Amino acid sequence: MMTPSHESSRTHVHPVERLHEDHALILDKLRGAEDRIEAERKGNLVFDPTYWVNLAQFLHIFADIEHHAKEEQILFVAMQDEGISVDGGPIGAMLSEHAEHRALIGRIEDASREGREDECRDAVTEYIQLARQHIWKENEILFKMAIKALPEEVCEDIFHQFDRLEADHRTRHSQAWLEKLLREI
Ligand SMILES: [Fe+2]
Ligand SMILES: [Fe+2]
Repeated sequence: MMTPSHESSRTHVHPVERLHEDHALILDKLRGAEDRIEAERKGNLVFDPTYWVNLAQFLHIFADIEHHAKEEQILFVAMQDEGISVDGGPIGAMLSEHAEHRALIGRIEDASREGREDECRDAVTEYIQLARQHIWKENEILFKMAIKALPEEVCEDIFHQFDRLEADHRTRHSQAWLEKLLREI
């Protein structure tokens, strides 16, 4: 499984590829969570608070704080600079869905920490449905708009901004910490 460490970003064709990689990692971990929910609901696995707390941490630290920051603070801003408006368009829709993701992650964090099993599984199930639709819309609509709209020099700048943002995040949560977390979920 790939991990989100990018030492040679310029080998990629377009910066949205970096976001595609994040999406693949998030979807992979959500598939695992979905299997676990099914097994717990059937009684084949007991509720493991550590697993769910770790999943909540991954969603909070990686999917929200890091991945959403790449979109909200870098890609979406660059798209707006190229004349794509936020209100009434796909960027505005994605921003409001990010807020929904954040609210759900908060519910997952609270329920997993406090061992409220059904609430934790229900919130994760809602998150999975929202994230799958959201990622589909980004991959199939928004990122294709970005590929058309962003000039090459802007793409190069986005790569640098992604590198800086990821490096900054790795000073707070190291690559080793992230890889350990990814092995546990
Ligand atoms: Fe997004
Ligand atoms: Fe995304």
